[in-house]
Amino acid sequence: MHTVLTRGNATVAYSLSVLACLTFCCFISTVFLDYRTESKINTVKILVKNVPDYGASREKHDLGFLTFDLQTNLTDLFNWNVKQLFLYLTAEYKTKENELNQVVLWDKIILRGENTVLDFKNMNTKYYFWDDGTGLKNNNVTLYLSWNIIPNAGLLPSVFAHGSHWFKFPEHYSVSAV
Ligand SMILES: *[C@@H]1O[C@H](CO)[C@@H](O)[C@H](O)[C@H]1NC(C)=O
Ligand SMILES: *[C@@H]1O[C@H](CO)[C@@H](O)[C@H](O)[C@H]1NC(C)=O
Repeated sequence: MHTVLTRGNATVAYSLSVLACLTFCCFISTVFLDYRTESKINTVKILVKNVPDYGASREKHDLGFLTFDLQTNLTDLFNWNVKQLFLYLTAEYKTKENELNQVVLWDKIILRGENTVLDFKNMNTKYYFWDDGTGLKNNNVTLYLSWNIIPNAGLLPSVFAHGSHWFKFPEHYSVSAV
């Protein structure tokens, strides 16, 4: 009885360490790969409004609207340790108040086996592009694509694509309905 239990424990411990080693090898074989790739971003429609925030203050803030094109080929990113990609589009700009403002405007999950050649046209943003003041009007904004890789094993860093897009919001607020 005693020896059976001991042997059972040893077997479990051995299998676990083999499994851990395999997992580690899986991780280490992919951690140094270059996960960057080209992306092409373009803006189609750009306008900015000055509208009351939904908050209690009802203070007016800048709200940007844009539609964009996005082209990228993520095929090479899907090696055997990649389970899914979490893509997101970030807008980055500078205001008097803040040296760096970053707003995530859009995101998408790409699962293994799904289409990895993306060619989106005239897309709406998924999230509101609010500024906390009036920092959008007549300001320069850079858009870029990044992704987090969700691996089968280990941790992989978030990656920025090569290629970003620069645009400028109009000098005047738009008053028409979008
Ligand atoms: C995407 O990349 C893969 C691998 O590099 C390549 O085989 C394929 O032709 C590319 N597709 C397009 C539409 O560029
Ligand atoms: C936006 O970029 C242009 C060209 O680089 C520059 O001349 C202009 O001063 C910039 N405007 C702001 C508000 O940063």
